Amino acid sequence: MKKTAVVTGAAAGIGQAIALELAAAGYKVYANARSMEKIAGTLEKGRGYDIEPMIFDVRNPREIKEKLGIPDRIDCLVNNAGVSVPGNFRDMGEKEWNLTLETNVKGYFFVTKYSLEKMQRGGSIVNITSGAAKTGGDFVSLPYSTSKGAINSMTIAFARELAPEGIRVNAVSPGFVDTDMLVKSEKLTKEYYGSIIPLGRLGQPSDIANVVKFLLSDEADFMTGQIIEVNGGDIMG
Ligand SMILES: NC(=O)c1ccc[n+]([C@@H]2O[C@H](COP(=O)([O-])OP(=O)(O)OC[C@H]3O[C@@H](n4cnc5c(N)ncnc54)[C@H](OP(=O)(O)O)[C@@H]3O)[C@@H](O)[C@H]2O)c1
Repeated sequence: MKKTAVVTGAAAGIGQAIALELAAAGYKVYANARSMEKIAGTLEKGRGYDIEPMIFDVRNPREIKEKLGIPDRIDCLVNNAGVSVPGNFRDMGEKEWNLTLETNVKGYFFVTKYSLEKMQRGGSIVNITSGAAKTGGDFVSLPYSTSKGAINSMTIAFARELAPEGIRVNAVSPGFVDTDMLVKSEKLTKEYYGSIIPLGRLGQPSDIANVVKFLLSDEADFMTGQIIEVNGGDIMG
């Protein structure tokens, strides 16, 4: 039987690449975005694959519960939808703090909680975190790094609670990846990022999608509670 996967924030960047990669691998994919308009590009690129839109805002537990109640079964979940508000912590107010933590932490928690109501033994969850959780972040904000640290802890806590039920939970921790989220400026060009990454190039969304696909698969059947860095060697060890 076809496996089903929910991917949040699938309208662009890493989430779109993951949704398309899983669909190409034969999954039925529920591709989340905040509106039909936003997910249209992903559906167009995935034409011919089994991709269905799933519209909710990850900050809204009521919407999440309603929409995740629709599929009969959820085998895999990828928590990916995230925001980054760049800047110095001195410029951060309650608005920036709440937006970041509500999307990146509360969102991951409630999407996981309601997906689990449809997940059985053999299910697998991957959370997209960030190397900023370990480094404190280059070019991103303190609330963002804090939120990613929380995702790492949440990944391990869920992994521990769910291991007896045969459900695995891991995280993929990207370094610099070429998406809209990457902070760009006159100095922070793609070439600059390539020059500071040991493997000599900026990450692509497909670099992350490939590792997510592996972690969701039965080939990673003995892996849980792991934070996997995918960053061209930017953080080693
Ligand atoms: N790019 C990097 O260098 C990098 C590095 C480390 C980690 N990451 C992580 O990778 C993940 C994907 O980021 P990306 O680089 O692909 O960024 P992106 O291109 O900005 O994509 C983020 C996606 O999340 C969606 N999203 C944001 N808030 C949402 C909400 N409340 N409900 C539903 N969807 C929402 C966005 O949709 P809207 O159009 O509706 O905003 C967008 O589709 C994030 O968790 C990010 O922290 C990225």
